[in-house]
Amino acid sequence: MIVLGIESSCDETAAAIVRDGVHVLSNVVRTQIAKHRPFGGVVPEIASRCHLEAIGPVVEAALADAGLASIDDVDGIAVTARPGLIGSLLVGVSFAKGLAVASGKPLIDVDHIEAHIYANLLAAPDLEAPFVSLIASGGHTAIHRWEGPGRSELIGRTRDDAAGEAFDKAAALLGLGYPGGPAIERAARDGDPGAVHFPRARVKGAPLDFSFSGIKTAVLYHLHGPNRKRSDPIRPEAGSVADVAASFQEAVCDVLADRTVKAARAAKVSAIAVGGGVACNGRLREKVNERARGLRVVFPAPALCTDNAAMIAGLGHHALRARLEAGAGPGSSLDFDARPR
Ligand code: KG4
Ligand code: ZN
Repeated sequence: MIVLGIESSCDETAAAIVRDGVHVLSNVVRTQIAKHRPFGGVVPEIASRCHLEAIGPVVEAALADAGLASIDDVDGIAVTARPGLIGSLLVGVSFAKGLAVASGKPLIDVDHIEAHIYANLLAAPDLEAPFVSLIASGGHTAIHRWEGPGRSELIGRTRDDAAGEAFDKAAALLGLGYPGGPAIERAARDGDPGAVHFPRARVKGAPLDFSFSGIKTAVLYHLHGPNRKRSDPIRPEAGSVADVAASFQEAVCDVLADRTVKAARAAKVSAIAVGGGVACNGRLREKVNERARGLRVVFPAPALCTDNAAMIAGLGHHALRARLEAGAGPGSSLDFDARPR
């Protein structure tokens, strides 16, 4: 079965073709980072406009890269319907519905977070359920216990900022630009991770939850002094940007690795799977591997960690197969909406 996946929940317009839920035949991503960079973050109105311009050519490129002549060669379409920026989601969902009507192909609505977890099965098709998954991106940070498609339980989550958001905000304070994660990781290479002790926040009564808003304030105060504004000059005693970046990265990765391994032990699973843009981080990879003794650890390649449509097509495959086996016709599949949460 060949599935076309479409993803437009944030600032990446993506389309991919996946065969039998695991074989990625094409994976096209058009990023908007350059358009948002001057603003230091994703501007929703600009994102929607860019998706509109890109989505047709990106879907065509995905079909062509997979060696398919046209949409007639796919068995179904899967699209990200939640969560994300509503204007961005609507472009993908509306386009997918139009394509489904025009082609007569069945359409599946997919949850973006569940798809990030599924990316681990594209990377390691032999990964057996149940496993514990950490998804850490610019918009989400959550731990799930995964039992199978449509069967994952949320067991830990951030109470405020997402981990990637913390990277982006700290990088802005350090003048490292957007997106912050890769910039901090680069700067941290020349820094001492023990130079500054940033807080490893715990959430009272919720040992698997995260809180990242305090560390952003800690970076601000460290750079400028307590109760100061970001427009104030950086104090000389704050030390080098490399040291602050390395110490910040160390603190965030410590917390992410700690909660994830704790969750895996508590859930009594034998494997950990990580995903989302922050999973590109080399220090996080090292820390999870160090702590997870005796557990299998999967990190997909960076292209499957950040937003992509292969994970959408892969997960969509399972829902599509279930629907076809139940004998539902393609017309039944348009009755869903884009949902921001
Ligand atoms: O999954 P993703 O591409 O988009 C969202 O769904 O948010 O994740 C983007 C986030 C950004 O916050 C970015 O700073 C972060 O992932 N990120 C990283 C790294 N690469 C991307 N964070 C830490 N280290 C990295 N190497
Ligand atoms: Zn994402």
